[in-house]
Amino acid sequence: MPRVTVIGTGYLGLTHAVCLADLGHEVMAIDVDAEKIAMAANGEAPFFEPGLEPLLRKNLDAGRLRFSLSFAEAGAFGEVHFLCVGTPEDESGRADLSAVYAAAEALAPHLTSPCLIVGKSTVPVGTARQVMTRMRAIAPAGHEVDLAWNPEFLREGFAVQDSLAPDRIVLGVTSDSAEATLRAVYRGPLEAGSPLLLMDLETAELVKVAANAFLATKISFINAMAEVCEQSGADVIPLAEALGYDARIGRRFLSPGLGYGGGCLPKDIRGFRATAADLGVSSLESLLATVDEINLGRRERVVGLAREAAGGVLAGCRVAVLGVAFKPDSDDVRDSPSLAVCDRLVAEGAVVSVHDPVAMPSAARKRPGLRYAPSVSDAAEGADLVLHLTEWSDYRAIDPAALARVVARRVIIDARCCLDAALWRGAGWTVRVLGRPQPAGFHDHEDP
Ligand SMILES: NC(=O)c1ccc[n+]([C@@H]2O[C@H](COP(=O)([O-])OP(=O)(O)OC[C@H]3O[C@@H](n4cnc5c(N)ncnc54)[C@H](O)[C@@H]3O)[C@@H](O)[C@H]2O)c1
Repeated sequence: MPRVTVIGTGYLGLTHAVCLADLGHEVMAIDVDAEKIAMAANGEAPFFEPGLEPLLRKNLDAGRLRFSLSFAEAGAFGEVHFLCVGTPEDESGRADLSAVYAAAEALAPHLTSPCLIVGKSTVPVGTARQVMTRMRAIAPAGHEVDLAWNPEFLREGFAVQDSLAPDRIVLGVTSDSAEATLRAVYRGPLEAGSPLLLMDLETAELVKVAANAFLATKISFINAMAEVCEQSGADVIPLAEALGYDARIGRRFLSPGLGYGGGCLPKDIRGFRATAADLGVSSLESLLATVDEINLGRRERVVGLAREAAGGVLAGCRVAVLGVAFKPDSDDVRDSPSLAVCDRLVAEGAVVSVHDPVAMPSAARKRPGLRYAPSVSDAAEGADLVLHLTEWSDYRAIDPAALARVVARRVIIDARCCLDAALWRGAGWTVRVLGRPQPAGFHDHEDP
């Protein structure tokens, strides 16, 4: 089996490295971040991902997984090199490819021959060929350097299972030997039934952004329906359920709420929009602009409802925020809708107290000025308003009668549309749910 390196040990790269080791490969993972490498080498995942840390330790102990800061060591070690570095949004909304090119160019002089570079980062169409040209120009003369693109579809919160048993393996290849090498790397999942899709480099690059564009469109579609429901008195929950029974539509990604966030969808949608503009495909450009606009509009809607709940002025209003991760089962707060709402509340003078089961340390690094509460009841102590902004299962288990005893006013906005509103109303709460009819405004359950 080929020896493998993984360049970049973030959410994607560390999971990929650990799972390849678990599939039996000899793996070296490298990064430019010395702290991350020290933690990973010590068996600690630098971020929260269910099931990852035990698997990291298991494979370190088995001697199949090692970590390094050295591109020279990576070049000497591996025959297959996965590029998993970040591609964040730049000021123009495009994908910033500087880490991809920096990693490729740092590795190139140390490559052995023959070797295969495999891009996994999400990139604009056309990037793979640029990477290949740059690496071949730097690699030692006469070396055979092949390149493939293998976009990643893992979901944070399910990253380990998605990596060990992917729902599809997409390979953009230009040679039979690249295909054969990657079939060997993914032999385990392929034998277990993961479908393999072979295509050219450009199509493989596009599959990833097209998939994310479709998912974001589906989310924004149901959130636009939520807006229609709010204006018309209809109820988006049974609407979504009824739509979802249509097998052509399906229920998944049809949950109304505060919209998408995180390190992928928002930047990938904006990046793809910029690509569409560059390619002159104005219809896609305007579709994705609208998807983004609807998504950001839900954050505004929650701030507007909070203001309404506070009687028109948020200044001095004590707000308890439940959930700051962009989604449950993750500590990722990149482009977190909840943090964006918190920023707006603070800007309008609200006193915000935040709780999250795991994401408070990562949120505190980004927003050190917020108050972080060790428990839900601590966050809600004396609150005039509670906002449910990330749908952790812990929050569905809250006893509304118990929480009623610590707040100043029993008012909650469920921006994720998944609390049991009848239960909360039964405990004396005024409950406002995005996209659902509201019985009688915010003041129907005044405190005794
Ligand atoms: N996070 C996900 O769920 C997910 C899923 C599918 C695809 N992706 C894509 O995977 C890529 C990585 O995303 P992520 O979430 O893991 O990002 P991340 O920010 O968590 O990790 C990126 C890592 O790359 C490292 N890095 C930066 N420059 C480097 C260099 N020159 N050499 C070596 N390492 C370098 C950083 O230190 C960091 O550890 C992105 O293109 C993203 O769109 C992410």
